[in-house]
Order: sequence, then C-alpha cells, then structure tokens
Amino acid sequence: MKAIFKKVDTLRFGRRGVNNYLASAIAVSISGFVEDDVLHIGEAADDVEEKLRVVLTLSINDGVSPLSPADLKLNFYYESCPNAENFVFDYVKEHIPHAPTLAAPLLRMHFHDCFVRGCDGSILINSTSKNQAEKAATPNFTLRGFDFIDNIKSLLEEKCPNVVSCADILALTARDAVAVIGGPYWTVPTGRRDGLVSNVTEALNNIPAPNFNFSVLLKSFASRGLDMHDLVLLSALTTTAATKAQILQLVYGPHEVFFNEFAQSMEKMGKIEVKTGKEGEIRKHCAVVNG
Ligand code: HEM
Repeated sequence: MKAIFKKVDTLRFGRRGVNNYLASAIAVSISGFVEDDVLHIGEAADDVEEKLRVVLTLSINDGVSPLSPADLKLNFYYESCPNAENFVFDYVKEHIPHAPTLAAPLLRMHFHDCFVRGCDGSILINSTSKNQAEKAATPNFTLRGFDFIDNIKSLLEEKCPNVVSCADILALTARDAVAVIGGPYWTVPTGRRDGLVSNVTEALNNIPAPNFNFSVLLKSFASRGLDMHDLVLLSALTTTAATKAQILQLVYGPHEVFFNEFAQSMEKMGKIEVKTGKEGEIRKHCAVVNG
C-alpha cells in the first residue's frame, strides 16, 4: 500500500483536506515512507481512505501530567474584556479568507510555542542585541504570521489595555484560522499569561525535529502530558512524516471522528505548562517583553 504523496505547501484544510491529511499520515506510517518522498493529498489519499481500517493503541502515559489547566477557563475575559474572543474570531474571519495559507503556519506556531516553556507566547518575542530568541531557531524560520498576531494584539490593546495575553491570542487565532478554512474546531479555555523568557537554544532543544524517530517523539510528547494518540492525531497535520514508524495499527474513521479526536488533543496541547494567576505578565507588544 504505497501511497504517493505530494508536498503540501498550501494546506488545503477543507474538511476533506484535513481528512486526507490524516489518511496521508496513516499511509505514511504503514507504508514505510522515506524522508525524501513527497506528500500527496488528493486521489491517492482517497484510495488510502477506503483501504484503511484502523485500531489505535492508546496512551502509554498514565503518569503525572505536566499539563496545568488550573485557572484556565472558558471565556476568561468575560468581565475584563468581554468581546476579546469574538474580536479575535471576527478579525480572523475577515482576513484569513484572503490569506488562507496562513492558517497552517499559525497552527504550527502555536505548537512550537507550547513545546518551549509551555503555551506562554515566548515564540512571539523578538531577538535583541543581548538575547537570541526562539524565533532565531531553525525550526522557526519557516513560521509565518507573527505580524498577524501583533496586529490583533495592538487592536485589542486599544480596546482593553494590559488585559489580553499574547499567549491566549495565539491559541485563539490558531484555532479560529483553522476553523475558518473549514478545519476542525476545538475549545480554547483562556487565562494564559505571557512568559518573560525566549531563548534560541531552548527552542532548538525542545521542538521535535523531522529526523526524530518514533520513540523519541513519543518521549517528547509524553514529557508534556501528551500520549501516542495525541502524537498521531496532532502530527497528522504536519508536512513531515515523523510518525510513520512503528505505528502498525491506527484508528481511522469518518472525518467527524478525526475532527473530534483532533480537537481533544489540541485542547490538551493548548494547556501545556501554562502560566496563570500572577505568573509571567500581560505583554503590551507580543514581540517585546514589558520593560
Ligand atoms: C511530531 C513532531 C513534529 C515534527 C517533527 C514536525 C515537523 C514539521 C516540519 C519539518 C514541517 C515543515 C516545515 C517547513 O519547512 O515549512 C512541518 C510543518 C507543519 N507542521 Fe509540524 N511537526 C510535528 C508536529 C506538529 C504538530 C503537533 C502540529 C500541530 C498541532 C504541526 C503542524 C504543522 C503544520 C500545520 C505544518 C505546515 C506549516 C506550513 O504550511 O507553513 N506539526 N512540521
């Protein structure tokens, strides 16, 4: 069952597109895909879709979770900035249809943020003469959409100064951008605070690399409270075939099933080591720590 894949630079996220992505990831896993092969959604994925019968062996990580969802809550800004979340959604709904390829890098940005010091907006900080920030790490070179986040932040600052964190704006924007182009939708409880530190070496050490083998990936996810199920689902949307090895049996069902499962994993990812309460700060500008 060797599927041919085409490299996806414009992520065709329509509900069908995402489904095909999963099919692609699964086919990759099963068919022993080599790093240089090219990814291909479309006809081949349709074929794969019909053929796959999937049983997923779940969670190897029942231990203590480093997720700290405490203090995140739905509509955290209900009193302090009542329309903040609607504002993000409206902004995304207005602009992403003109730049639909931005949805993928925004989602990836959220992932890269959460894997380095938790989901604290540290990915958004610019380097300075004294500090090489996460943005300077190679895996982040191909991220796009920083200005998109910065714009939303400055508009929200006009409405509610010092209230809405950049970490929350990123989490909400990633979710809304994916939804607007027809992808899955997940719940984003808010109340994250912004981190004060952004360091290039930490990004290099913590963002999973495309040459990681499956067990290393599993370890990387497990240390953040994410299990194999999360790994398979979340990396279904990545353009790398990182989860190919050793996954012999996978779950695959109607796209509603995938969307639902994916949403649950995204919710978990968005809670990784969040800062809440009095931790961190609410940045004024997402690219700069408050002076
Ligand atoms: C499991 C470990 C993962 C590895 C090793 C990995 C690696 C990569 C690499 C090498 C790319 C291509 C980047 C480029 O050159 O443009 C990529 C793209 C992408 N990844 Fe991942 N990724 C992983 C997991 C994830 C997760 C968990 C998500 C989201 C929840 C994600 C979302 C994406 C998206 C949306 C793209 C396309 C970005 C674009 O089109 O600009 N990845 N990933």
